[in-house]
Amino acid sequence: MDGVTIVNHPLVQHKLTLIRDKNRSTKGFRELLNEIGMLLCYEVTRDLPLTDVEIETPIMKMTGKEIAGKKLVFAPILRAGLSFVEGMIGLVPSARIAHIGLYRDPETFVAVEYFFKAPTNLDERLVIVIDPMLATANTAVAAIDRIKERGAKDIRFVCLLAAPEGIERLRGYHPDVPIWTAAIDDRLNDHAYIEPGLGDAGDRAYGTR
Ligand code: URA
Repeated sequence: MDGVTIVNHPLVQHKLTLIRDKNRSTKGFRELLNEIGMLLCYEVTRDLPLTDVEIETPIMKMTGKEIAGKKLVFAPILRAGLSFVEGMIGLVPSARIAHIGLYRDPETFVAVEYFFKAPTNLDERLVIVIDPMLATANTAVAAIDRIKERGAKDIRFVCLLAAPEGIERLRGYHPDVPIWTAAIDDRLNDHAYIEPGLGDAGDRAYGTR
């Protein structure tokens, strides 16, 4: 599918099966979300440009490589995005973090914003928007609208699971934003949950209901 990368690395697929299991503990769920986040981060940053840098090893001088160009911003959508971003921060500790507080109204499924705080100069940065579940895409579209309002031009979206409806909607509203996901599931149910999915990612990560 155009603009969508399914990360089918065996480790990701194995951990995805573990995290879907309804008997997984809160602790296990959070750990897996963190680990899969790290693995997806590896994929979403695969094409970052490198530049030469002169260093000296204990033996001699050499030319090494370092990541060039734009500084990275991770933009987790609260709440479930927080556990998902942890592993990514582990891999890229210098990344800036934008927090986007959006919840979906349980009746209308419309995204409601309650918090937004982002670093400056988003126009000079690569912004990776992070939400484990791409369901209706209402929150993803609203989050990317806000990030774009603040000037971001280079945006990627990472999720753990996507519904076909969510992908179509996000690609429709923001065709310039490529998507990385571990899997595309079958459909949304009448409550806008992904089937077969993994349930409510926020509740499962934080042990709420
Ligand atoms: N959000 C979730 O946490 N789970 C879904 O299945 C859909 C949206």
